[in-house]
Amino acid sequence: MKVLVIGSGGREHALCWKISKSPRVSKIYCAPGNGGTAAIAENVDIKADDIDRLLDFALNNRIDLTVVGPELPLVLGIVDRFQEKGLKIFGVNKDCARLEGSKDFSKKFMEKYNIPTAKYRTYTDLNEAMEGLEDFSYPLVIKADGLCAGKGVVICNDKKEAMAALEDILEKKVFGKEGDKVVIEEFLDGIEASLLCFVTKDKIIPMESAKDYKKIFENDLGPNTGGVGCFSPSPLFTDELKKKIKEDILENIKNGLNKEKMDFRGILFIGLMIVKGEPKVLEFNVRFGDPETEVLMPRLDVDIIDLFEKTIDGSLKEADLKWKEEASLAVIITSKGYPGEFEKGFEISGIEELDEDIILFHNGTRLEGRTLLTNGGRVLSVTGLGPRLEDARKKVYANIEKISFNGMYYRSDIGKTNIEKE
Ligand code: AMP
Ligand code: GLY
Repeated sequence: MKVLVIGSGGREHALCWKISKSPRVSKIYCAPGNGGTAAIAENVDIKADDIDRLLDFALNNRIDLTVVGPELPLVLGIVDRFQEKGLKIFGVNKDCARLEGSKDFSKKFMEKYNIPTAKYRTYTDLNEAMEGLEDFSYPLVIKADGLCAGKGVVICNDKKEAMAALEDILEKKVFGKEGDKVVIEEFLDGIEASLLCFVTKDKIIPMESAKDYKKIFENDLGPNTGGVGCFSPSPLFTDELKKKIKEDILENIKNGLNKEKMDFRGILFIGLMIVKGEPKVLEFNVRFGDPETEVLMPRLDVDIIDLFEKTIDGSLKEADLKWKEEASLAVIITSKGYPGEFEKGFEISGIEELDEDIILFHNGTRLEGRTLLTNGGRVLSVTGLGPRLEDARKKVYANIEKISFNGMYYRSDIGKTNIEKE
C-alpha cells in the first residue's frame, strides 16, 4: 500500500521510520518531509496546511492511507475533507480537533466532565481580564485561546508580567485572531508527563508513558522549547498513578466524548502535571507528540499500519498494542539561539559514524545535493534503546559527540535528572 505522511519534523521522520517497517507498505511519501525522511520516503513539496494540494496529490497518486503529523491541518479540517472524497486518513476530524485548537473549549470540556485540571477563567475583554487577575495568586498562567505554534503560554510571576501578557494577546494581538480569547489559569506545581493514547469509538488506549524535557538549559532552566529530550517509560507511572489516571481522567474523557457526540478517532495526547501524586490535565493535543514519538516508535513492537486501520474502523483493542521492554531515550541537538532567533544552513557532519544501533531522527534538516544542512531550531534526535534507561542514555551520549555543525547545542542531563525530586 501507498502511505502519505504529512509534516516535516522529527515526529514525522519517526512515523515514516515505523511505517517503513511494515511489510504491507510499498511506498511512503512525506509532505513536505525533511533531509531524514528523504532516505525512506519520497518527499513531496507541499506544505502541511495546504489541504487543497494535499488532497489533489492523494487522489492523483492513489494514496491508500494518509497519516497526519501536526495539529494545524487537523484543526483546519483535513480529515473531513479527505473523508468526503472517500480517502482513508488517520487523524481526528475538525470537531474533535477543537480539544487542541481552542484552550477555552478544552477547559470547558474538562470542567463539564469533571476532569481534574487547573482552575481557570476565559476573557475576551482586556479590562475584564485585568480585573479577573484578582481571582488568582502568583505565579499564574496566561494562555492565548488558539494555536500559537507553542508560543501562546506565558507563566507570569507578578501582576506586571500578567498585565503585559494580557495586553500583548488581547490588545496588541501578537497572535492575531488566535488571541481573541484568553485563558487565565492557576499555576500547577508538580512533575510533567506525557500520555499519548489511541482513541476510537468508546475506547481510550494509552501508549507507554514518556517524559519530555521542555526547557532549553540543563537542570530545567531557561525558556520553554518544543522539547529537547525525551525518554520512555517514565518511572513516575506507577500502577497506582495509572489507576488514578484511568479512573479520574480517561473514563471522564470517554464519557465527555460520548455525551458531546464527538466521534474521536486518532491520537489524544494528554499533557499531565502530577501534583503531590494527583494527576491533573494541563492540556490536550490531538496528535502525536514531538519528541515523544521519537522515543515511542522504537519501542512499539507491532505493525503501526494495523493500529492506524483499527483506529479508523473502530476495532482497536488494548491487546493490539505491544511494547518492547527496553527503555528508549532521545537527545535533541538544536541550533545556537533556539528557542529564540537562530541561523540555519550549516553543514552537518559525522552522522555516518554513528553506531549501528543508534536511530537518528531528523527534526530540522534539508538535503542540498548530497550535503545535509541544518534547517530548524531542533535539528536531530539521537535515539537509543537499552535494557535500562541508563544504558540507553550512555549509548546516546557516547554517539552524540560524533556529530558536528556550527553552533550545535544539546543538554547533557537528559535522563539523568531524578524525576522524583524535580
Ligand atoms: P500547554 O501548551 O498548555 O501545554 O503549555 C505549555 C507548557 O506550559 C506546559 O508544558 C507546562 O510546562 C506549562 N504550563 C501550562 N499550563 C500550566 C499550569 N497551569 N501550571 C504550570 N505550568 C503550566
Ligand atoms: N512534546 C510536546 C508536544 O508535542 O506538544
